[in-house]
Amino acid sequence: MTKKKRILSGMRPTGPLHLGNLHGALANWVEMQKTYDCFFFIADWHALTSDYESTGRIAEYVRNMIVDWLSAGLSPEKSTLFVQSHIKEHAELFLILSMITPVPWLERNPTYKDQITQLSNKDLSTFGFLGYPVLQAADIIMYKAYGVPVGVDQVPHVEITREIARRFNYFYGDIFPEPESILTDTSKILGLDRRKMSKSYNNAIFLSDSPDEITAKVAKMLTDIQRARRSDPGNPDVCNVFEFHKLYSDGQAIERINQECRSAEIGCVECKQIMAQNLIKALEPLREKREYYEAHPALVDDIIADGCEKARRVAHQTMAEVRAAIKI
Ligand code: TRP
Ligand code: SF4
Repeated sequence: MTKKKRILSGMRPTGPLHLGNLHGALANWVEMQKTYDCFFFIADWHALTSDYESTGRIAEYVRNMIVDWLSAGLSPEKSTLFVQSHIKEHAELFLILSMITPVPWLERNPTYKDQITQLSNKDLSTFGFLGYPVLQAADIIMYKAYGVPVGVDQVPHVEITREIARRFNYFYGDIFPEPESILTDTSKILGLDRRKMSKSYNNAIFLSDSPDEITAKVAKMLTDIQRARRSDPGNPDVCNVFEFHKLYSDGQAIERINQECRSAEIGCVECKQIMAQNLIKALEPLREKREYYEAHPALVDDIIADGCEKARRVAHQTMAEVRAAIKI
């Protein structure tokens, strides 16, 4: 048997995961467990870069994120699941890489500029925020990952990682492979208001929502805005509820709604109820697993501790090589 290639990816613990995260990243990760040696971690130090003023909920988000991951099908038997701040080697490698990273590489990073303008309510003119990609580079090359599954927005960070790895190897000898971005499809699912699904837009359905919460949220969803009255025919092609049907309902139901919406035989209220039921059913296995892990907190502790132990062994080895290479 040939050895599986290693991939690594991380998420910042900024709150509960929603359907956009599931269809965007998480479902992909679950699939990748079949083919790759997977390292998935929670980037809690990265959460500090923008949320350094209020750190009170980060630990809670870390915990919930692990439970979200497990309930969505990430498996501690197949993957190494760990928490960044538990592996202190990330900080050491970050420090060393920061010594060799030219500041202009960081200043021209497109996500840096974007975020500074987008999150104008926060003061992001910090050293740590500018150095975000250096910490991310440390995360990635620590495990000598061959590939990094990410969305398009993260590709510049993987590019900087490659440049930093190359520069390190040039100065100190060949230690780090240059990782590839493995592009994960960005989720096509939109939020309740048809903007991108996001916690901060208040338009998300969370994996941890109860059936009642899901029903209530679906009832509020925007439909075909041209369809003002029940007797007006609608157009599923421009309706977000119909997009959800395509994901969660069976072919027959989709076909029926497609016709009956256009002829005004079905109303939006009923159409949404059907969709909500199917969505609730689709999330049922996740809900069951979540309940199990929530009832067994010690098991979650063990899963985190075991994953961190596995990650730490690799990090320990890498840092021994790094220290030998830089002779410090
Ligand atoms: N920057 C990533 C994000 O915001 C999170 C992250 C941190 C990451 N370190 C990483 C992703 C290493 C992939 C690999 O989504
Ligand atoms: Fe959308 Fe369904 Fe209403 Fe048609 S009936 S507009 S598909 S919610």
